Amino acid sequence: MEREVFIDRVSELKKEKKAVILAHYYVDGLIQDVADFVGDSLELARKAKEVDGEIILFCGVYFMAETAKVLNPDRKVLIPYYKAGCLMADMAIAEELKEFRENNPDYTVVTYVNSSAGVKALSDVCCTSANAVKIVESLEGDKILFVPDRNLGSFVAEKIKGKEVKLWEGYCPVHQKLNPEQARRVKEENPDAVFVVHPECRKEVRDIADFVGSTSQIVKFVKGTDAKKVIVGTEMGTIHQLKKLRPDVEFIPAYPDFICDQMKMITPERVLRALEREQFEVSVPEEVAEGARRAIERMLERS
Ligand code: 13P
Ligand code: SF4
Repeated sequence: MEREVFIDRVSELKKEKKAVILAHYYVDGLIQDVADFVGDSLELARKAKEVDGEIILFCGVYFMAETAKVLNPDRKVLIPYYKAGCLMADMAIAEELKEFRENNPDYTVVTYVNSSAGVKALSDVCCTSANAVKIVESLEGDKILFVPDRNLGSFVAEKIKGKEVKLWEGYCPVHQKLNPEQARRVKEENPDAVFVVHPECRKEVRDIADFVGSTSQIVKFVKGTDAKKVIVGTEMGTIHQLKKLRPDVEFIPAYPDFICDQMKMITPERVLRALEREQFEVSVPEEVAEGARRAIERMLERS
C-alpha cells in the first residue's frame, strides 16, 4: 500500500472512531509513523492508563494490548492481529506458577510484563526491562522468583546485593539468537562502533556490550552518543526511530535478521482493517484482570 494513501486513511478513521494508536518500537516503521505514541513496554503501559480516546488500537504483541485493557478497562482495546503473541510470554504457564507459589510461599514473585494476564495475576509485582532492577531493589523479601525471562533475571541478579534471585526458564528466541560469537564478530568488523543491547540478550553478549537497556533506554542513549556508528542488539524496528533521531549515525543490526516475526504480524493492512471493522477486541475476565492490575499498578507506583 502506498505510504500517503495509508496515512490519509488512518487519520480519517482515527478521527471518525475517536481512536488512539499506541505502537511499540518493534512494529513496522510506517505504523510507528501513524501512531499517536511510540514507546517501550513501560511507557506504553503508562500511556494506556491515561489515553481518553474511545478506542485504543494497540500495535504490538498480545500481552501489551492486554496490559492496556487491564489498566484502562472502560476503553475498547483492539489489536490488529489476535495471533501476534510473545514467544517468551508463552514460556510461563499460570498453572506452573501457581504450583511454585504453593510449594514456595517464602518467594516474592516478580513478573516481567512479557507474560499473560493470568501469570501477572499470580505475581506480587510486575516489571519491565526498563525498571526491573529498581523494582527488585524496592522489595522487602530477600527470596525472589523472576518470571519468565532468565536473561533479564540474570541481569537483575548481577545488580542486586543481598537477595537470592531464582530464575524461571524462559527467554526470548529473537534476542537469544544473538550468540557471543556473532556479537564478537560484528564488534570486530566495526571497531569504531558503540554496541548497545537489550537485557533480554544472554549474559555473554551483555558483557561485551557498551550499553544495556530497554528499547527506550537505547533510544535515549543513542540520542546523546558521540559515536558515528552503532551496533543495535535488539529488534530491527527500533532502528526506524533511531534513524529519525540521528540521521548522522550508521546503524548496524547485531545479526542480519534481528526480527520479531510476532511483531511483524502487525501489518499496515491489518491496522487499517482493525480500524475499519473495530477488530480484534481484547478482553480480560475481571477476576483475572483484578489480580493483574494489582501487580502492574504496584510496578507503576515503584517506577
Ligand atoms: P521493552 O521493555 O524494551 O519494550 O521490550 C519489550 C520486548 O518485548 C523486548 O523483546
Ligand atoms: Fe516477545 Fe521476543 Fe518478540 Fe519481544 S522480541 S515480543 S520478547 S518474542
